[in-house]
Amino acid sequence: MLKVLGAVAAAPLRPGLAVGAAQLLGGCGGGSSDVQVPDPVVNPEGAPLRIPPVLSPSSVTATEDAYVLSVDESEIEILPGKSTRILGFDGMTPGPTIRARAGRPVTVSLLNNLPQTTLGGAPGEVVIHLHGGHVPSSDDGFPTDIVPPGTSRTYTYPNNQLPATLWYHDHLMDFTGPHVWFGLAGLYLITDDHEESLGLPNGAHEVPLVIQDRNIDGDGNLVYTGNRNGEVGNTLLVNGTVEPYLRVANRKYRFRVLNGSNMRMYRIALSNGAPFQVLGMEGGLLPSPVTVASITLTPAERVDIVIDFSSIPVGESLVLRNLLGSGDTADIVRFDVDRMETDDSQVPAVLRPIEQLAMSDVVQTRSFTLSGGMMGMQGMMGGLWTINGNPFDPDRVDADPKLGTVEIWEFQNMSMMDHPVHVHQTMFQILEINRGPPPATHAGWKDTVNVPAMGSARIIMQFPDYAGRYVFHCHVLEHEDHVMMARFDVIP
Ligand code: C2O
Ligand code: CU
Ligand code: CU
Repeated sequence: MLKVLGAVAAAPLRPGLAVGAAQLLGGCGGGSSDVQVPDPVVNPEGAPLRIPPVLSPSSVTATEDAYVLSVDESEIEILPGKSTRILGFDGMTPGPTIRARAGRPVTVSLLNNLPQTTLGGAPGEVVIHLHGGHVPSSDDGFPTDIVPPGTSRTYTYPNNQLPATLWYHDHLMDFTGPHVWFGLAGLYLITDDHEESLGLPNGAHEVPLVIQDRNIDGDGNLVYTGNRNGEVGNTLLVNGTVEPYLRVANRKYRFRVLNGSNMRMYRIALSNGAPFQVLGMEGGLLPSPVTVASITLTPAERVDIVIDFSSIPVGESLVLRNLLGSGDTADIVRFDVDRMETDDSQVPAVLRPIEQLAMSDVVQTRSFTLSGGMMGMQGMMGGLWTINGNPFDPDRVDADPKLGTVEIWEFQNMSMMDHPVHVHQTMFQILEINRGPPPATHAGWKDTVNVPAMGSARIIMQFPDYAGRYVFHCHVLEHEDHVMMARFDVIP
């Protein structure tokens, strides 16, 4: 039987609810859980890194690829010899990877097999959102567009966008945190002929790394406390694997790294301090690769990197570390170099030019203040997180950009925690973070921008193709669930 400490309230968490037990305000990154969870005993050699399978289409026509995906409560093995109950896509977490091509639509028929009430006391309703997708409003997974238990619906994703590392996850209003924590997330990769012509490492040399922290008790149960400051785990899972290792050849590999955690941030770096190359972030390839020694990923951010193992002697290992972690959250994945291989891949100096959005095209600037929390400086609403002082209301429109126009959005963080803000419908470019230009790694297309505690960010974006209702929100999932989200409508 699943044990959940401090189960999630089954009633919707709307404004006015009293705050639970006192919670610690973590600074940026890390933070601490207020529940002691026994440290899982794991095989000291580690476990082979799981690679989520690529989902096979149920049908392929001249114009589209159709997929079927189910959502179930399932039992899997995360700790050796222990069974863990999860919310899985096709029985697994992360779910199978969907591979799409730019310009070729994908349909996903989702079958919701959950009971009325599921793990953590959360409702069995689900909403699927393709994060990073440029998707019509009706298929975007608005937080109240539910798929009830025992029903199915088909989502259509046009993929008329640049190739990029996307992910799909649950987006149910008030319960995205527990649904994702218990497993409802997977990768969705879009590619095209140009990207394939670049000669980047591919096939077995292109590996996803979905990084998620979790609390797992000694019996193997996932423990979700519902911490409104953000749920933090004491163990890292990569693609669902605890203490993973990957056997690699002494050559270049491409890694699609997703911070799929509810709240935790990572600063990834190699244990020997060697630099690696950044090809792009959420919205696809940068104009040229950027070489860094480390990069920070807030929740929902992705980074596409190339690590070159050619200088590592066979028989030695390199660890991808989290410089913001300690103990079981310091090591992300160990790479064991176990063989020689010739490397036919390359990282060209030119990847894909980026069209800069022009300030002269801006028709509107909007300002949003992010506040709240237990010790919020302004707009404190009993432990809620707010945007311009308002809790999320699916019926209130907080911004109304016109279809096809360019806008600047400014975010001012008046709280003591970072808020990685994610905007649906489109990709944006970062103009400023804390009044300075973004680093070169963050200068391409993005869908999530971290607004630092007591800091600010400015982004520029266009809203093409699709009118209708969308949301933007903090991607710390408990901030989102505790209402740091707003509806915006793209007006035809
Ligand atoms: Cu990744 Cu609105 O979500
Ligand atoms: Cu999204
Ligand atoms: Cu937040």
